[in-house]
Amino acid sequence: MSVAKKEYKRVTVKSLVDMKRRGEKVSMLTAYDYSMAKIMDGAGVDAILVGDSASNTMAGYETTLPMTLDHMIYHATSVVNAINRSLVVVDLPFGTYQSDPKEALRSSIRIMKESGAHAIKLEGGKEIKESIKRILNAGIPVMGHLGLTPQSIYKFGTYTVRAKDEEEAEKLKSDAKLLEKLGCFAVVLEKVPAKLAKEVAESISIPVIGIGAGNGCDGQVLVVHDMLGMTKEFHPRFLRRYLDLHTEMTNAFKAYTKDVKSGDFPSENEQY
Ligand code: KIV
Repeated sequence: MSVAKKEYKRVTVKSLVDMKRRGEKVSMLTAYDYSMAKIMDGAGVDAILVGDSASNTMAGYETTLPMTLDHMIYHATSVVNAINRSLVVVDLPFGTYQSDPKEALRSSIRIMKESGAHAIKLEGGKEIKESIKRILNAGIPVMGHLGLTPQSIYKFGTYTVRAKDEEEAEKLKSDAKLLEKLGCFAVVLEKVPAKLAKEVAESISIPVIGIGAGNGCDGQVLVVHDMLGMTKEFHPRFLRRYLDLHTEMTNAFKAYTKDVKSGDFPSENEQY
């Protein structure tokens, strides 16, 4: 007897480009584990980013620099295991693609082969052009990332808005065009002025996914812990909180502890 399996129309890198063409915005969120990804996929989120922000949200590091390929593959595998529909994009972590194109390709192949993800993302423009070419030549879809690139935090020195001056804005515009020309399927623009992001989105045919880059982008991405209100101390202007999970979870943990200590939990109905 065969088991009827529900058919899902998967989101592909081509679907994202088609969405831009017909004016439909792309919804993207980060996820790092099976349970969260399963809920997102079921809720109709188009694309899931296994971001190296896992370094902050999952491991408690101050920057994204400590993440390794093995870490990313572990998180990506957990997300891929949950997915029926969403596109899964995985960050190449710091130090796995900057030194030379061959290493960039080897890192990308490991992610694709070992996790089953659908695409990779890396930070930078012209400087990493040869690496991007090599990855694309191997048939691996690439998403770019410009503007605030957290892997370069020690070069910038701060997490404030990027490309406010003419020179940096011009470089960003030409990097975005280059990513499109090379064959990237989309580009993330992080924390840049809304006017500039809109101009970039209008100047290229691939989707521009913004985070702190305003409403003129072709889609939006947020870090899931931030939009669910789990991170209390982080409240940049661009963030919309859809829940206050920090408070909800604190109350639940307090109530549980109280019930255990008082002997109220488990009740007769909660035991065998
Ligand atoms: O790692 C990440 O979560 C990201 C997003 C902020 C775009 O790169």
